[in-house]
Amino acid sequence: MARIALIPGDGVGSEVMTQAVRVLEVLRDAGVDSLAWEEWDLGADRFLRTGTTITDGEFQSLADDYDAILLGALGDPRVPSNEHARDILLGLRFRLDLYVNYRPCRLLHPAISPLKAGGERPMDLRVFRENTEGVYGGMGGSFKKGTPDEVAVQEDLNTRKGVERIIRAAFGYALERGLDRVTMVDKANAMPHVGSLWRRTFQEVSEEFPLQETRTMYVDAMAMDLVRNPDAHQVVVTSNLFGDILSDLAAVLTGGLGIAPSANLHPGRHALFEPVHGSAPDIAGTGTANPMAAILCVGLLMEYLGHEEVGVQLEEVVTEALAGDITTPDLGGGKTTEEVGAWIAGRLAHRIAAPGHSPAAD
Ligand code: NAD
Ligand code: IPM
Ligand code: MN
Repeated sequence: MARIALIPGDGVGSEVMTQAVRVLEVLRDAGVDSLAWEEWDLGADRFLRTGTTITDGEFQSLADDYDAILLGALGDPRVPSNEHARDILLGLRFRLDLYVNYRPCRLLHPAISPLKAGGERPMDLRVFRENTEGVYGGMGGSFKKGTPDEVAVQEDLNTRKGVERIIRAAFGYALERGLDRVTMVDKANAMPHVGSLWRRTFQEVSEEFPLQETRTMYVDAMAMDLVRNPDAHQVVVTSNLFGDILSDLAAVLTGGLGIAPSANLHPGRHALFEPVHGSAPDIAGTGTANPMAAILCVGLLMEYLGHEEVGVQLEEVVTEALAGDITTPDLGGGKTTEEVGAWIAGRLAHRIAAPGHSPAAD
């Protein structure tokens, strides 16, 4: 039995979560795994109602009582400080020590690439974003705040342990999947202290993985290269902040935030799956949010639980939806969140019931 904590969160988070749950229902009802889930009331509503973001006891329960967490999104214009999102989302990443932020960016259908030649050079990139330190550590402070002499400091914290474990995770993944290109992204020319730590560590760890072709790139050059040579990179390992930025860029090159899933992992211990996108307040409540990212998160979750085939099947079903224009407006379609979710869930149920059945035969 796999127990899953659901945190729908704010804005479109809860809208896309409803569709992810449909998919979980299909998988449970088909007996793929014995799945059970519980919904957690964490987000802006609860914070505004009670003044509490998340308690120590809740962190403990999320750590101890579940095999995985599935999260929608956190962030609400009614909480301009964003403190609840930091406490809950960054809190879970830090307190569960989810040091791998794995963000696969794969172009599932040529029509959704914004690049002219994107379809001929499909991106299939896996970003390994360090997820527990960097500038996200919260170290720093303000001095003379609100005065003309104000000073603000936000430290970039990088530890040998933290850098080494994410680099190892990237190489380990590449080796396991038979991928031979691992690129480390930094800004060593302008940030030499941190750059030196990352580069030495990358060099040392790479010696243990001689099959991999390794490269280091500056983050500005990488931003350019992702657009210029979208198919040139396979595994990219980088810091928390650079990974945040590059994964939005890579996501938009593969169809946009509406279709980009992610996994936050402490391998062997804890896992949290969430779309790369946020709560999208500009479209929340309109019923047009794309549920594909959240649904592909279910695929990553199932792979994590040992059902690799479900991840593949879900990607295939989403690809079929793209080919058939069963899409929300962000991908040029006219369907609602609900319609896309229902179509994918229905199609998945059909495929599980009739394995090997080809869509063309319908
Ligand atoms: P966002 O990802 O919410 O939205 C960026 C753009 O992408 C918007 O135009 C939005 O409409 C679009 N978009 C996002 N998800 C979509 C979907 N599923 N379907 C169609 N279009 C979609 O980023 P933002 O506007 O910078 O942030 C909004 C709030 O979300 C902020 O509070 C931010 O801090 C938070 N946020 C949370 C997470 C998270 O929970 N993991 C991630 C990013 C941002
Ligand atoms: C993401 C988001 C978060 C991040 C925000 C909401 C703090 O942008 O998951 O990519 O920067 O990590
Ligand atoms: Mn982000």
